[in-house]
Amino acid sequence: MRVTEIIERKRDGHELTTAEIEFFIQGYARDEIPDYQAAAWLMAVYLRGMSRRETVDLTMAMARSGDILNLKDVLPISVDKHSSGGVGDKTSLVVLPMVAACGVPVAKMSGRGLGFTGGTLDKLESISGYRVALSIAEFKEIVRKHGIVLCGQSSNLAPADGKLYALRDVTATVNSLPLIASSIMSKKIAAGADAIVLDVKVGFGAFMTDIEQAKQLALLMVQIGASVGKRTIAMLSDMNQPLGAAVGNALEVKEAIACLQDGGPRDLREHCLAIAAQMLRLARHPEGDEPEYALAEYMAEAAETLRNGSAFAKFRELVIAQGGDVRQVDDPSLLPQAQLVESIPAPRSGYVEQLNALDVAMAAVELGAGRERKGDPIDHAVGVLVHKKVGEYVTAGEPLFTLHANDSARLARAKARLARTVVYSSTPTLPLPTFYDVVTDAERRS
Ligand code: URA
Repeated sequence: MRVTEIIERKRDGHELTTAEIEFFIQGYARDEIPDYQAAAWLMAVYLRGMSRRETVDLTMAMARSGDILNLKDVLPISVDKHSSGGVGDKTSLVVLPMVAACGVPVAKMSGRGLGFTGGTLDKLESISGYRVALSIAEFKEIVRKHGIVLCGQSSNLAPADGKLYALRDVTATVNSLPLIASSIMSKKIAAGADAIVLDVKVGFGAFMTDIEQAKQLALLMVQIGASVGKRTIAMLSDMNQPLGAAVGNALEVKEAIACLQDGGPRDLREHCLAIAAQMLRLARHPEGDEPEYALAEYMAEAAETLRNGSAFAKFRELVIAQGGDVRQVDDPSLLPQAQLVESIPAPRSGYVEQLNALDVAMAAVELGAGRERKGDPIDHAVGVLVHKKVGEYVTAGEPLFTLHANDSARLARAKARLARTVVYSSTPTLPLPTFYDVVTDAERRS
């Protein structure tokens, strides 16, 4: 097989064979195919697209480029979740303990934040001592003992995706549905998932800003899952405004703890309960034979773990198992605190019509909560609290945001970022929905 021929065939709009895709991906992962040929191939895929079969083959080739975790010895069924990345998205910190408290063990590998999106690992590292780097043996041992583990991705999971993603980033080929779908699904499959709940964010603060496009991506990932025997459900959730009120690492951990203690913002709670219910559905009915009413029951079961304290107890257990200082969980005022705390008042009265999540995220990055380049240091203490959400009424002078900062120049820049981010209306505005749609493989059949 010749690499140039494979590039040429894709360039001319032909469907690649399974063998050609496998040859290309394994060759690239082993450094036998140079970046310039992979870049040309990516651009051909970007422009010509891929059939569903090609996308499934690409997913599996990338998953097979490294280790595929086998969790069968520690989990009866491995139900994973994945968020496409957003602002204030602390869902995993709440959902995993809830699901584990319902008796369904969860073993998850998460990522770090980059650009405007936050990452679960960075949030967890707000807790002193929490170890995100675990060996596979430790990963399995913790979930076997505690029914929950949450750490960073091991380096040999889908390495071809890691290489290709970095190349896509610098060749303007990120935004392609088959490339995004295969990238996400290859990592979930390599991490040993038997079933997957995808949280596909849509809006100003998401990767996808258009609902129809997000739905297409969701459907493609659900179809990939179904093609390889992994039941997959995708939830399309709002990311026009931040999820919950807190954006910034320690602030988000505090908010997650409040939610685990049966409090916290309403939208965060609603969001987490819905995702947890879908995970329970997949764990209990991997064959898709659940009755209609099951979801409502699972939602109530998950809500009960918040009410009776079992989800919070699971979170404590997780933190202790991974070496974190549990005193910071019991007393969140011990988490990293910023030195400068300043509120931004509303300049006028009115109903909040728009609150751009991207502006809030960029203000948090400006404060030091996120990183512009991979490997940049972050400040766990800083961030933004959002006091009013779309649909709420605000009176002139009432606090709209509270900024937590450790540097006055950064604070000034973050304030400038937020100065015009809220759009007001004199007449009542509707709150934004938490979810827009749920995509299941039933849609594939209909
Ligand atoms: N997240 C991924 O893991 N891959 C993509 O291609 C896009 C988002």
